[in-house]
Amino acid sequence: MKDFAFDLLRPELIQATGTTLWIADENALQPELGIAPRTNIIVISNRIDLTDTLSEQGWQCRFTDFDFSGYPDGSIDTLIYRISKEKPIVHHVINQAIRLLKPGGQLFIAGLKNEGIKTYLDKAKKRFDGQLQTAKSDKNTWMGILTRPDDCDTELLDDQDYAQLREIASDANYAYSSKPGVFGWNKIDKGSEFLIEQLPLFMERLKQLPNRVLDLGCGYGYLAMNCASDDCFVTATDNNATALQACQDNFTQHNINGEVIPANCAEGISERYPMVICNPPFHQGFSVVGDLTDIFLRATRRRLENDGIAAFVVNLHIPLERKASAHFDRVETIADNGSFKLVLLAKPKR
Ligand SMILES: C[S@@+](CC[C@H](N)C(=O)[O-])C[C@H]1O[C@@H](n2cnc3c(N)ncnc32)[C@H](O)[C@@H]1O
Repeated sequence: MKDFAFDLLRPELIQATGTTLWIADENALQPELGIAPRTNIIVISNRIDLTDTLSEQGWQCRFTDFDFSGYPDGSIDTLIYRISKEKPIVHHVINQAIRLLKPGGQLFIAGLKNEGIKTYLDKAKKRFDGQLQTAKSDKNTWMGILTRPDDCDTELLDDQDYAQLREIASDANYAYSSKPGVFGWNKIDKGSEFLIEQLPLFMERLKQLPNRVLDLGCGYGYLAMNCASDDCFVTATDNNATALQACQDNFTQHNINGEVIPANCAEGISERYPMVICNPPFHQGFSVVGDLTDIFLRATRRRLENDGIAAFVVNLHIPLERKASAHFDRVETIADNGSFKLVLLAKPKR
């Protein structure tokens, strides 16, 4: 899908001189980038699929939760950033830009009006002490060019302490840590909670309790943690660096019998599992991506043992059963609570 905001940044990526960081999240997941890798540009991305794709094309990439601590103050000439969906991340990047840029260094930042770019530009202008030029390709698509002044002692934007994990919820089993940037970061998801409450409904369909479970799209790890036990090893996987960091922290804090693996929809994981659990995503950054359901269903089919089961939870209005029947011979809606439904998938089509 074409992204007009990224198109404004494209020439800047092609022309950037000096040490440049391109800060890229899932909004940059475009099939055709159309820019040859540049040796002076490092891609900083929190998505493993993007870093894998760009690394294959020859770009230098760092898969990180937008952690810039490895870059000294005043060490960067240019920063290029297509804004993220989450406000704390945008504020974090603008705050970090002041620290990272050399005096005279520039931040190029673009986005759409309905994503809040104009408000961000106003805020960034204050943070950069008044230094802002704007460009737009149409009335909805804006880019700001902010130049780092020699002295800059302006107020930090509120990034909700983006870098820090913190306890966000607890239940009878665990206290959970998370942070902005993770799906539903500050609560237990109602759908996932429903799945765990009804887990016995799925388990009774198996001949024996599973000794291994794959959590596809683990977020901060709620489903994985509640499936793990001394007799059940859980593999939790996600494509988002922030989610993986939170999940790993939760596993370590609570001594969970499991592992946390960065992967694009389980790509690179070759094992098959007696059980897969999943609360699948429907958004990729600002876009709703219908194909994501199919991609998750295909990954589940590949990773499920022939006599295993997958437990999915989705909103009632999602036609998961129809899509799933292309991949599984057995598709059964086993419960709903008026908002969410639990769908059992078995007999993967080979
Ligand atoms: C609806 S959330 C569920 C999170 C968690 N399992 C829970 O129940 O709270 C979907 C998760 O899928 C992850 N995700 C999205 N696209 C992905 C991909 N291509 N590969 C792996 N994970 C992905 C998101 O980062 C997010 O953590």
